[in-house]
Amino acid sequence: MKTIKDIDIAGKKVFFRVDFNVPLDEQQNIENDTRIKAVLPTLQYAMDHKAKLIVASHMGRPEGKKVPELSLAPVAKRLGRLLEKEVIMANDCVGSETSELVSNMKLGDVVLLENLRYHTEEQKNDDEFARALAELCDVYINDAFAVSHRINASVVAITKFAPVCAAGFLLQKELDYFKQAIADPMRPLVAIVGGSKVSDKLGALENMLEHVDKFIIGGSMANTFLKCSGHSVGRSRVEDNLSEIACAVMKMAAERGIKFYLPIDAVVASRFDPKAEIKIVPIQEIPHDWIVMDIGPATSLLFSEALYDAKTIVWNGPLGVFEMDAFSRGTIAMVHSVANSYALSIVGGGDTDIALHKTGEMDRITYVSTGGGAFLTLLEGETLPAVAALDAVNKKAS
Ligand code: 3PG
Repeated sequence: MKTIKDIDIAGKKVFFRVDFNVPLDEQQNIENDTRIKAVLPTLQYAMDHKAKLIVASHMGRPEGKKVPELSLAPVAKRLGRLLEKEVIMANDCVGSETSELVSNMKLGDVVLLENLRYHTEEQKNDDEFARALAELCDVYINDAFAVSHRINASVVAITKFAPVCAAGFLLQKELDYFKQAIADPMRPLVAIVGGSKVSDKLGALENMLEHVDKFIIGGSMANTFLKCSGHSVGRSRVEDNLSEIACAVMKMAAERGIKFYLPIDAVVASRFDPKAEIKIVPIQEIPHDWIVMDIGPATSLLFSEALYDAKTIVWNGPLGVFEMDAFSRGTIAMVHSVANSYALSIVGGGDTDIALHKTGEMDRITYVSTGGGAFLTLLEGETLPAVAALDAVNKKAS
């Protein structure tokens, strides 16, 4: 893959598509700046090589409207602090004012364009919009792994119009780690899959049947597997329409010798509410009108034991209703178990990332992906459209 290092960027206007879609609180304070910090090496490299940096991102889903709460202005401030350099905030990402601002840039200047999704054309992968973005620059760099599963103008169509295209260090790192974990793993390879719906993860589960040695399943999605294994899960969410497929996945796993771990006990609640009555029960004894909210302590031990010989661990999705403290223990215990393992560990997915931050174990995980949907797309065995676009344009050029 062609990267920024393969291009002479000195004195050039370099357009960096990054993913600064970071969580903001009600006062527009940034709650987690991991995605900003993750692209600093690329931006610093460009500053050191005397480029002019045009940085672009989306924020949230404003659907073509100029929603002030989804402005990138707070990100400009944080980025400036992290780079120790003034970041000039543009009022828009295209248009004459933006072009003028860019044409007046000096070497080493950093301009952050306003939210790309203030224009509906971005998510329509519109050619004219992509051309307008490309006209701002001499070189296009995609360092936005987390949005590279979207067919959007600033990651796909733009590659047709920018004079030179390449990947940034973050995109390259994400793809390399993923390859190491799935395409060429040290074994045993263990996949921990959680989250609320089997339907969201079905593609990933099916694809991973080709790769993994062990599956550990938690979160609400485990209910569908438990039900098709003959357990009653009370009033917990079950995707009955996927019951047959869930059974087929377990059968295929058994045929291939893949160890399949499901919860053996659960934290259950009388209602979907942290203040509800709560108890811990073996999986065989879930009361008929209660709801499974988290894995139980015996399951935490079992799952931890299943990691004893893991050489590679890939994890996506929390194991319980993690956003409620009362039901976050299973996920937190799993974070510690993964951190304590000797395996190469790769964790991806928005909620799982929040769990890592809560535990302070970030540094003991080999790699925490900045992508949720993009990470899942890779787990499904799919190519990311933005990466395919970069590859296609560079193949054509060589
Ligand atoms: C993400 O947060 O997963 C990316 O920024 C993509 O955002 P989207 O799901 O709104 O396209």
